Amino acid sequence: MAKLDVEFCGLNFKNPMVVASLEPTNSPDLMKQCFDAGASGAIIKTLTDIEDMARLTENSKYCVMDQEGGIIEGKVPRDFVFYSRSGYSSTYYKDWIPYLKETQAYAAERGAHLIGSAGAKDIDGWIDICRTIEDCGLPMVELNFGCPHPAMMPGVHGGSMIGQVPEVAGEVTRRVCEALDIPVMIKLTPDQAPVLEVARAVKEAGAAAVTATNRYTGFAVDIETGEPRLAGPAGIGGPWTKALTLRWVHKIYQELGMPISGSNGIFDHRDAIEFIMSGAGIVQIGSVLMIKGVKWLPNVIKGIERFMDEHGYEDIASMHGLAARKAVRDYSEQFSRNRVHAVVNHDTCKNPTCTVCIQMCFYEALSQTAEGRIEVHTDNCIGCELCLDVCPFESISMNPTTDEHYAQGYFRIPDGVFEPGKKFSTQRNHPDRIGKKALERAKPAAE
Ligand SMILES: Cc1cc2nc3c(=O)[nH]c(=O)nc-3n(C[C@H](O)[C@H](O)[C@H](O)COP(=O)(O)O)c2cc1C
Ligand code: SF4
Ligand code: SF4
Repeated sequence: MAKLDVEFCGLNFKNPMVVASLEPTNSPDLMKQCFDAGASGAIIKTLTDIEDMARLTENSKYCVMDQEGGIIEGKVPRDFVFYSRSGYSSTYYKDWIPYLKETQAYAAERGAHLIGSAGAKDIDGWIDICRTIEDCGLPMVELNFGCPHPAMMPGVHGGSMIGQVPEVAGEVTRRVCEALDIPVMIKLTPDQAPVLEVARAVKEAGAAAVTATNRYTGFAVDIETGEPRLAGPAGIGGPWTKALTLRWVHKIYQELGMPISGSNGIFDHRDAIEFIMSGAGIVQIGSVLMIKGVKWLPNVIKGIERFMDEHGYEDIASMHGLAARKAVRDYSEQFSRNRVHAVVNHDTCKNPTCTVCIQMCFYEALSQTAEGRIEVHTDNCIGCELCLDVCPFESISMNPTTDEHYAQGYFRIPDGVFEPGKKFSTQRNHPDRIGKKALERAKPAAE
């Protein structure tokens, strides 16, 4: 049976699933439910000394939308959009002291960790909240440089406003790290931020790990009434953000090699595994627990175990960063890959009833003969592989392009095109040529 435990920042997590800092970690009882459901860790809803951010939570608004922008009633599908606005913990951080100790003891009895979270108004506040967390025996703290809401609060400086500026993020991190003995994890913002540079700055300042990432800020409209949803801008997320987040997870893994806690876009075990294969050591789960209840968590943990058993992964380490290590670091690596072109298997092709591939090829490399047979125009085909993916009958394969074809200029920008002073002109990509055939074909139909 697969081993789920993972070492992260010197701590042993019994599985990679940690509950993110949000409403299900907003009280000791709720956090205990998370530990009972099998969470290896829970990050407390951000503790603060900013009055407006505490008040904001007392005035929270949430709605769950579908991909068409309508409100979802009843069962929530995988592709939900969570639009919401809440602040930090409305219990003053010093009033948390007895509860932090008690909840940490409860977590420890279950082999789990209570992790702190801080969001302060100035450097003294950052240090004091973090020291309080450390003094209560919590083994790690996350600094919330990712919250989208302080930016909408007049007079407040915090959250993503820190995470958007590498120098500021680095300085706050350095001051907190100097004041603490426990590992400090920085929660990044993906919103208008040079994410990699901020991660680099906080790593150099002493951060033990980063959380990639908090959510985006959005704006949504009820088109029936013309009213903004939730009265205006709010935090926005859901499983649809996963690919946007993984861009940063894999990049930070590739470039900085530092421990990463993945957050923003987890629905089920498949997403958690994708985060791990992109370079996350542990994974945070948030919105979906607010929507489906904490009882959803054991399914995710069991799902990871089942997947690993079915795919022969013995431990989390064998999946960690697997895909990130294979990913191109920049697009120029594409140039050295072997050239291919499309080939159609006419025995299985369902043309003329199906023409999906023709519709999607914007290089005019596929056409239909009068008899309804698909033809590949190899001199136009750039080997983009879109037709290979979309064919519902697996009738397209990609064949290697021979050196001879290449030398003949089938797939090649002619020599000299980019020499200084010469007009940009290729056979295939010339603006005069692109779409010309399509326009010619469209003309008689339009007339
Ligand atoms: C309603 C709500 C409240 C949140 N509150 C906090 C918070 O207090 N501190 C924090 O660091 N992140 C907060 N977050 C962000 C989450 O911890 C998490 O990073 C984010 O929701 C993305 O993960 P998910 O896709 O699993 O929800 C909040 C998110 C939501 C939806
Ligand atoms: S590989 Fe791309 S360019 Fe070639 S036929 Fe298929 S869709 Fe067209
Ligand atoms: S998508 Fe596949 S089945 Fe459909 S026309 Fe193209 S090759 Fe044939």
